[in-house]
Amino acid sequence: MRREALSDSGYRTLVEEAKLSMEQAYVPYSGFRVGAALLDGAGRVWRGCNIESASYTPTNCAERTAIFKAISEGVRDFRAIAIVGRAPHAHELTQDATAPCGVCRQVMAEFCSGDFEIVLCNARDEVEIWTLEEMLPLRFTKESMEQ
Ligand code: THU
Repeated sequence: MRREALSDSGYRTLVEEAKLSMEQAYVPYSGFRVGAALLDGAGRVWRGCNIESASYTPTNCAERTAIFKAISEGVRDFRAIAIVGRAPHAHELTQDATAPCGVCRQVMAEFCSGDFEIVLCNARDEVEIWTLEEMLPLRFTKESMEQ
């Protein structure tokens, strides 16, 4: 597994940022909290949480909250994102690391290259690092329409 964006302690710090974001989750319907921490090319971290709606479909995932916050401030260069989740009434992270949904992977593909790193963590504090290429091979992007 490639690990290039950060040092081991840097990845751990990014995961801690994601845990802090998770506490801001607005989840009156699912109760499932997700936190994300997006590292940009300048070393800044953009936090995001999931935000639900009574009408369900407007719900925004934590990953997209973080990405859209950064994009809306003019940032386009991203290196890694840490993601954590906690089930309703649980006191620790999910047993299996929470992975990004397909919609969020597609949004990552819009703004990030294949070597963008996706950093996950489970209840036992085990960190795993994936690339976007591994999580979403055969991506449909704007280049797909330029051939
Ligand atoms: N959720 C995320 O925030 N990120 C994901 O990648 C998976 C799902 C949120 C959306 C919803 O608020 C809750 O988790 C249950 O689906």
